[in-house]
Amino acid sequence: MNIPEQYQIKNILNQQTYLVGGELKPWAGETSDVYSTISSTPDYKPTLLGTIPVLGEKEALDALNAATLAYNKGQGLWPTMKVVDRIACMEKFVTQMKTKREEIVKLLMWEIGKNLGDSQKEFDRTVEYIYDTIEDYKQMDRNSAKFEKNSGVNAHIRRGPLGVVLCLGPYNYPLNETFALLIPALIMGNTAIFKPAKHGVLLISPLLEAFQTSFPNGVVNIIYGRGRTVATPIMQSGKVDVLALIGNSKSANALQNQHPKSNRLRLVLGLEAKNPAIVLKDADLDLAIEECIAGATSFNGQRCTALKVLYVHEAIVEEFNKRFSAKVDALKFGNPWEDGAKLTPLPEPDKPAYIQELIDDAVAKGAKVINKKGGETTENYIFPAVLYPVTKDMRVFQEEQFGPVIPVVSFSDIEEPLDDMAASNYGQQVSLFGADVKTLAPLIDTLVNLVCRVNLNSSCQRGPDVYPFTGRKDSAVATLSVHDALRSFSIRTFVASKDNAYNNAILKELLDSKASNFVSTDYIL
Ligand code: G3H
Repeated sequence: MNIPEQYQIKNILNQQTYLVGGELKPWAGETSDVYSTISSTPDYKPTLLGTIPVLGEKEALDALNAATLAYNKGQGLWPTMKVVDRIACMEKFVTQMKTKREEIVKLLMWEIGKNLGDSQKEFDRTVEYIYDTIEDYKQMDRNSAKFEKNSGVNAHIRRGPLGVVLCLGPYNYPLNETFALLIPALIMGNTAIFKPAKHGVLLISPLLEAFQTSFPNGVVNIIYGRGRTVATPIMQSGKVDVLALIGNSKSANALQNQHPKSNRLRLVLGLEAKNPAIVLKDADLDLAIEECIAGATSFNGQRCTALKVLYVHEAIVEEFNKRFSAKVDALKFGNPWEDGAKLTPLPEPDKPAYIQELIDDAVAKGAKVINKKGGETTENYIFPAVLYPVTKDMRVFQEEQFGPVIPVVSFSDIEEPLDDMAASNYGQQVSLFGADVKTLAPLIDTLVNLVCRVNLNSSCQRGPDVYPFTGRKDSAVATLSVHDALRSFSIRTFVASKDNAYNNAILKELLDSKASNFVSTDYIL
């Protein structure tokens, strides 16, 4: 195997501690091996990367208690801290985080098979997200550094934390998406218990110390183990105020249902999707094909925003299929550090077999694999199969494949994809390819009511992160963007007093003495 020196796995990483109450607690109990599906040897063999603790209910509840104590019924150091001081903790964290780039990028490649460029992008985008969050919070704070007066009542309105957050991220963006939940949750004054995703766990190890030393004890607690064992008792306790999860709606529902007080529980969820591309007959075919390739195949289709079904007008479907298939076949498969590797090993060992099931089912119901390499399988990969014609009775039409298989459906009447989208359980984004404004205008007006982002002549994506990221139906609860996430993890709360000399003198003294961290008209520059 020709693995560049700097990316070789020379030592395995045994994660022997977990972070609870500001302490990196040693763990001597059960551990589980972390394997990469990438081989280090010419004869295929998964590579052992390290081990992680398999914590139990007791440790999970210890983490919950630490977070609850740090929140301390709203009296904790963290939720009552001045905004400027919380920001200072976050700045300290991100400064330390930046020193871990190389280590984390290498682990991203090995643990989830993301190519070098995209792994670097994931890291850099996350750092930028933290800085943008800090800036946005400063602006939010400046906007509320004032009093309002209405109907004889003075009010000082800010946003306050919600309490204890249970934060669970996905394996496809184990750093970025998890931090896009955790960072805004923390900066708004909440305390958190965070369990890394099923793949992409070890890459959190280089950051444990930064978490430990940047925030007060118990503000961030990091635990390992099986979701069912650790997350279930935490939810059952009824002490969680926010479930922040990016993943699958079934797991989100199962966890929500464990909480005994549903009105106490706020939800911030980014869930699955089946984003369609709709290619109209007047579309610029080169552009549509290029964008559909990126949308359907980047990170092997393992993105919630991936294009998971392509609707192509019957007048152009033959030409589209021919050129699209050739381009899919031209994509290079390789290990993540290889130059130009667009397709990379799948981190889930059972994924190739699942994708094969979808192909077999579609073929049995009348579809064909129309690209030459479609379905070619190795130990850790299955080459993207372009399936045509796909019909509604096929599993690949109904399920979120989250992997390398691309269903193409032809349509003659635009009502067909619109009806399918309306009937779908999902409603995140759509890609619309076409040029004629008279056709596009009414379509856009309808599509914005079926999904939450219409990408005109481009593939679907979350970024730039300042834009709202959300979805309808089973695709999301609440909105994430740099700004919206700060809102999602907080609530408006304020001090009100009748406008009279007695109260106003007290307010003035509160402001002048700077004794309150909440009542303040200071500007953070
Ligand atoms: O898995 C879903 C991600 O939020 C997608 O983000 O569009 O930047 O790849 P992305």
